[in-house]
Amino acid sequence: MSNIKELDSKYIAGTYGRFPVEIVKGKGEIAIDSEGREYIDLSSGIAVNTFGHADEEWINAVTEQIKLFSHTSNLYYSAPCARLAELLCRHTGMSKVFFSNSGAEANECAIKAAREYAAATKGPEYNTIITLINSFHGRTITTLAATGQDTFHKNFLPLTEGFVYAAANDIDSVKELVSEHKCAAIMMELVQGEGGVNPLDKEFVKEMGELAKANDLLVVLDEVQTGNGRTGKFCAYMNYDINPDIVTTAKGLAGGLPIGATLFGEKVKDVYKPGMHGSTFGGNPVCCAAAISVVSRIDDELLADVCKKSEYIFKALENAEGVQSITGMGLMLGIKTDKTAKEVIDGCREKGVLVISAKDKVRLLPPLNISFENLQKAVEVIKEVCKQ
Ligand SMILES: Cc1ncc(COP(=O)(O)O)c(C=O)c1O
Repeated sequence: MSNIKELDSKYIAGTYGRFPVEIVKGKGEIAIDSEGREYIDLSSGIAVNTFGHADEEWINAVTEQIKLFSHTSNLYYSAPCARLAELLCRHTGMSKVFFSNSGAEANECAIKAAREYAAATKGPEYNTIITLINSFHGRTITTLAATGQDTFHKNFLPLTEGFVYAAANDIDSVKELVSEHKCAAIMMELVQGEGGVNPLDKEFVKEMGELAKANDLLVVLDEVQTGNGRTGKFCAYMNYDINPDIVTTAKGLAGGLPIGATLFGEKVKDVYKPGMHGSTFGGNPVCCAAAISVVSRIDDELLADVCKKSEYIFKALENAEGVQSITGMGLMLGIKTDKTAKEVIDGCREKGVLVISAKDKVRLLPPLNISFENLQKAVEVIKEVCKQ
């Protein structure tokens, strides 16, 4: 570990504050460090390892594809990409998909598509996109602009123009912006993840859908973190009364390989024409094979199980000593504690449980198939650490 730590500090750009742990392998929800210590991993690589580490079915899907070919280009047809797109459309009712490599890229693609659609149907001056204060949409200059948190903008100005921010759960604040700007779309996360695991109010989301319809605005939902079963439905919007025009996802989609997907509804499915957008690695066959194995397993039984585990965590922690509140949906949860999030995270890690933060909260994102036994063990550790 010490050698790796030195190499990392010397050669890796300093963007990350790492925990003092070097993960060398894992199995399911168990991660093992360079000293052979086992942890129950409730972070899942920040909602990426949908079925945990080194999942057998996932390994088989990936290795079978690598043996055939690992990359071609988007100049040729390839089966994994087409099959995954079909599967995603069947799970969501959306009509077409663009594949990229990350959440930020999926959102870039959505933003370009929304502007293109508005330019073609209403005029190019209709380019403003309304997002929400406290949102997080990525780290590129445009997705930072979409992100409604000043702290992420500082010293990176000027950002891409044309983003305005409404207060979450305040429909009047959205209405005001709609009346002041020539808008193309509204864009939001239904559970603000990086913003502190805050689900939007159901009534607000319903009103957002109605407002968008009445004003001819596209509804763009960022399901980068909430998608792929994380909230107990295939997508978080299935817990709400809203019909999206564009849905983005990434993180858990390929269960540990990089992928981004932008899903288009019927109205916008043909917005892109050849040459308007693209990606060298987007639709990579290995990543798509991994994603097919993940998406095929997100069925009603698994989703019911996610809800059961979620209920268990809520019940176990809601009134626990040192816990002020618990927010979130499914297996995407934020715990506000008497201690600082850092103290709880460090305390849990020392006792063999990996959790992370979201603003001032402790965030839990366990693999969707975590065993009840290990979930219970991990929750007991969290309770113990919170009360001390
Ligand atoms: C809601 C949301 N959108 C976009 C992103 C950016 O995704 P990526 O880091 O894959 O670019 C994230 C990452 O945390 C996210 O949570």
